[in-house]
Amino acid sequence: MAPRGSGSKKWTAVDNYFATLLAPEDTVLHATLEANSAAGLPAIDVSPLQGKFLQILVQMTHARRILEIGTLGGYSTIWMARALPPDGCIVTLEYNPAHAEVARANLLRAGLFDRVDLRIGRALDLLPTLAGPDTTPFDLVFIDADKRSNPEYLEWAVRLSRPGTVIAVDNVVRNGSIVQEKSKDQDVIGIRRMAEQMAAHPCLSATVLQTVGDKGYDGIALAVVLP
Ligand code: SAH
Ligand code: DHB
Ligand code: MG
Repeated sequence: MAPRGSGSKKWTAVDNYFATLLAPEDTVLHATLEANSAAGLPAIDVSPLQGKFLQILVQMTHARRILEIGTLGGYSTIWMARALPPDGCIVTLEYNPAHAEVARANLLRAGLFDRVDLRIGRALDLLPTLAGPDTTPFDLVFIDADKRSNPEYLEWAVRLSRPGTVIAVDNVVRNGSIVQEKSKDQDVIGIRRMAEQMAAHPCLSATVLQTVGDKGYDGIALAVVLP
């Protein structure tokens, strides 16, 4: 996976140009990345422009309930939670307790913790606890955890959705390695299987946006649950 800063100079310059104009980092977002770095978290958060993209998805869908799989330090959580109404909620799932602790502090500092339901554990153990006959479906789902489990995450996302729910999946291109049909990389295999599931699913319409930028070459899949 291409780490942050590994893209071409031109990609980085363009990312910086638009981010400065359209997604400037305020002190809270800046402090979040500082705290992540101080705690030794990997710098694999979404970029500022991608965070803004997620925030616009929240606004476009009028989302009140969001599910995020993969919290890390809560950087993407902050971008999305900021667009929630005061009574809205983002459920975010994180396997690593050390990551979750950093995220908790970041979300508290951001003044958003009242809108965040941070759950610690393996997503595949936590997701079944979100399903019940009385559960309100999610309006937006952001999948951004271990890529090998994406097929299962997509199934759960659909199960916890309603017609109109938007599902976004991060890192589906991974520097182009996704086209290697015979790849033994479990993450590539997981993403390819998920893409095939999206294509075959009668209730989903999906596409992929390839992205370049400060974080290299990657992409985001976007799906909507059909009526
Ligand atoms: N969405 C974040 C980045 C998430 S990085 C942002 O953009 O700011 C991926 C996170 O998923 C890591 O913190 C990792 O610990 C977590 N993760 C990995 N496997 C997981 C699993 N099985 N269940 C839940 N979280 C998992
Ligand atoms: C990785 C994971 C991510 O969610 C990301 O945005 C970038 C890289 C990784 O596991 O390498
Ligand atoms: Mg990601």
